[in-house]
Amino acid sequence: MSVEKLKKVLSNELDDLKEKGTLKGKETIVSGVKRGDSEKGTRYFLLDYPGKEFIRLNSNSYLGMSIREEVIKAEEEAAEVYGAGPGAVRFISGTFKGHIDLENRLASFHGRESAMLFSSAYTTVMGTLAPLITDETIVISDELNHNCIINAIRLSRPKNKSIYKHLNMEGLEEEIKKTIGTCKRLIIVTDGIFSMRGDNAPLNVIMDIAKKYDSSFEENIIVVVDDSHGVGAFGKTGRGTEEYTGAKVDLLIATLGKGLGVNGGYVVGDSVITQYLREKAPFYIYSNPITPPEAAAALKALEILDSPVGIKLLEHLRNVTNRLTDGLVNLGYETIMSEHPVVPLMVRDTKKTADLVAYLKENGVLATGLNYPVVPKGDEEIRFQVCADHTDKDIDYVLGVLKEYKQSRG
Ligand SMILES: Cc1ncc(COP(=O)(O)O)c(C=O)c1O
Repeated sequence: MSVEKLKKVLSNELDDLKEKGTLKGKETIVSGVKRGDSEKGTRYFLLDYPGKEFIRLNSNSYLGMSIREEVIKAEEEAAEVYGAGPGAVRFISGTFKGHIDLENRLASFHGRESAMLFSSAYTTVMGTLAPLITDETIVISDELNHNCIINAIRLSRPKNKSIYKHLNMEGLEEEIKKTIGTCKRLIIVTDGIFSMRGDNAPLNVIMDIAKKYDSSFEENIIVVVDDSHGVGAFGKTGRGTEEYTGAKVDLLIATLGKGLGVNGGYVVGDSVITQYLREKAPFYIYSNPITPPEAAAALKALEILDSPVGIKLLEHLRNVTNRLTDGLVNLGYETIMSEHPVVPLMVRDTKKTADLVAYLKENGVLATGLNYPVVPKGDEEIRFQVCADHTDKDIDYVLGVLKEYKQSRG
């Protein structure tokens, strides 16, 4: 059958994106990795630039775990023992000891009764929110929440949803007050770290507000937090935004694919809730888990994070992050101050963002430009992501490139 008419419609839409400057376009293909030392950090090679070395300032592997030898070894050893893939979903025959060991360790790392793995943080958010949202549930959400939260709410069709202005706690409280008497269950959902900006939700304040109004709801107020960019990157011991704000939320979701450097997602919380989710979450029931080698690698990364080595990596990460942030400010660039290794350079223009990204790439620096609709119009930015395998010299090199750019463009 012909798809010519459909192709025409889709091509027009793609042309439209190109016209607006928001087409993501051809993907960069990484063709090699060279480990660094204390002077010169890890370097990456790209298929289209044979022999050229790049500093990668757009990776989520904040602690460098994805290329850490102990983590790779753990993955290889588990592959030898269990094979490459799970071969089935969890409830059929796809639950391996490595999954259970990892869940137990994640629960104790976060001080919770239980943990439950999913194949990604995206599916964890979908798989957690959808079963918990009934037609007697209202959801209140921060306006800058990640796409997975937005889609999870759409998929779940709650009784109602309301959005509060980014980090605006008076707005949140107002929305809660409006819902009293109109639903049984209220879910407040937020990112921990907002991945486009590196700022964080005041989880302690959110928990205090939730406690204040909890008795007005027949089935409680449940605070659900996706801290995918926080765990393994933020807080003195890498426990993320909860640690940074001194809060303990009802359900904490995070990824194994950023700070922990592997792949997969998880939720931690009360064991009755996770037991319920294992029975009800389609993303868990009908989809393969992470592989046993991935589970072993993530467990090893978690053990490293939860050790003096992890504390040192986090300390270095904070130092190099501050070096970049201070450097940007000194050069007269606009940024958002935060201790988190996402360091935004606010350009506030789509074309200028693309120009700077291209200049950085020409000079051996990989960074990502973020445009509408990924960020609101007017918030176009370059998102730098600092990692523990960057050195002071790497950061100084990047700042040197940015200085030259400013001089050349005026
Ligand atoms: C807040 C947040 N949640 C979830 C995800 C998705 O994580 P994963 O790749 O594990 O699905 C991301 C990644 O960009 C994120 O920023």
